[in-house]
Amino acid sequence: MGLVTGACLADFGNPVTCVDQDEAKIERLSRREMPFFEPGLPELVTRNLNEGRLRFSSDLPTALKGSRVVFITLGTPPRHDGSADTRAIFEVAKLIAQNLDGYKLVVQKSTAPVGTARAVWRTMKRAARRGAGIDVASNPEFLREGSAIETFMHPDRVVIGAETKRAADLLRKIYAPLFLIETPTVVTTLETAELIKYAANAFLATKISFINEIANLCEAVGADVQVVAKAMGMDRRVGSKFLHAGPGYGGSCFPKDTQALVAFARSQGLRARVVEATIAANQHQIVRMVQKIVRAIGTPRGKRVGVLGLSFKPNTDDVREAPALTIVKGLRRRGVKVTAYDPVAMPRAREMLGRVTFADDVYQAARGADALAIVTEWNAFRNLNLARLRRLMRRPVLCDLRNIYDPEEVEAAGLRYVGVGRGRPGRWDG
Ligand code: UGA
Repeated sequence: MGLVTGACLADFGNPVTCVDQDEAKIERLSRREMPFFEPGLPELVTRNLNEGRLRFSSDLPTALKGSRVVFITLGTPPRHDGSADTRAIFEVAKLIAQNLDGYKLVVQKSTAPVGTARAVWRTMKRAARRGAGIDVASNPEFLREGSAIETFMHPDRVVIGAETKRAADLLRKIYAPLFLIETPTVVTTLETAELIKYAANAFLATKISFINEIANLCEAVGADVQVVAKAMGMDRRVGSKFLHAGPGYGGSCFPKDTQALVAFARSQGLRARVVEATIAANQHQIVRMVQKIVRAIGTPRGKRVGVLGLSFKPNTDDVREAPALTIVKGLRRRGVKVTAYDPVAMPRAREMLGRVTFADDVYQAARGADALAIVTEWNAFRNLNLARLRRLMRRPVLCDLRNIYDPEEVEAAGLRYVGVGRGRPGRWDG
């Protein structure tokens, strides 16, 4: 989030220095080497470096000199009880307070529990010289991995939690290019801004768990979740987005933020029961996928399954909380041999999976397999040569965990089709 935010704000015309304590990372970035895969990011970083608006540094005090606005975009990893660990935010806030050279607006952009921004403000005031000019704002980010630049540059809204006019005006100025394209803005208090982020992510996660439960019902009664979701989505109060049934949500946000919301509610003496159920349904969904594949191959021991897609979603190499990793591990635990393929995430997956065999392409993953499971819907998997797959596989079974294929087409090509929530293919003549 930090790198994308820095590069995009530079692209808006602001001079930006991105700071990280990891010197090796800063070195590589200065050489235009990206630390992760994100479409369009190398070009954006290179352009802004070349035009002198973007710099990288591991020296925070120097970078702070002359900067009026400081965005904090740090990780808030989950603790054992699911709550977010915000220590890094406070450490950096203290450092900033000790290195003030004039007024600073500190924008807390990391996803952190409600109350963090105000606590950061208090911490900074304590650590700074008396009378130093400090404002703290909360400015949650809604970008999505895999389309991070597009979603940063064209957000549905900008949320600004700011309690002084100076802070709100500065943020409005920074985001001015977004207002020119008529992006709605919500200016509110710190706590409200912080809660908006958790509420939005938890609601989207809930939509996914909801449709996954409907998918399971569809399987039981012979209905098609694709058609159910389509018709539900036609009701504008429901909306069609985030109603795609699948192997469960993953990534660095939904799993962590839903847990953090539950933990935060508990700390307030409350229960977030809907979100608790969302988490439980998601964990169950991932396990169900392993059972689904195992059922498709019969007895698991000695069988081979090809797994297509390891990242938690397409267009990223991020494998954090990726359903694919849990599925691969679950299959292996049952004695299934797995050959996996992903267009970009294999190096990262290798670090997490150890002894799994990786294929050079889709067809190598399918060779001799008793089933081929599509776990991440990369575009490259949408138009596979089904006849070739049938010839290569020991038993031609396609477990399409993202429902990207037409079951009739797959079966016409001589493969058995297993989807999610597609008890019996429905008809939609829209
Ligand atoms: C999510 C939110 O969508 C962003 O708005 C937010 O800024 C971000 O978290 C964050 O908090 O930083 P992200 O995790 O990058 O973004 O990816 P999503 O596109 O939301 O996908 C999350 C997971 O849900 C993926 O595993 C995806 O496959 C799954 N998903 C999504 C479904 O299973 N079904 C759907 O219909 C949509």
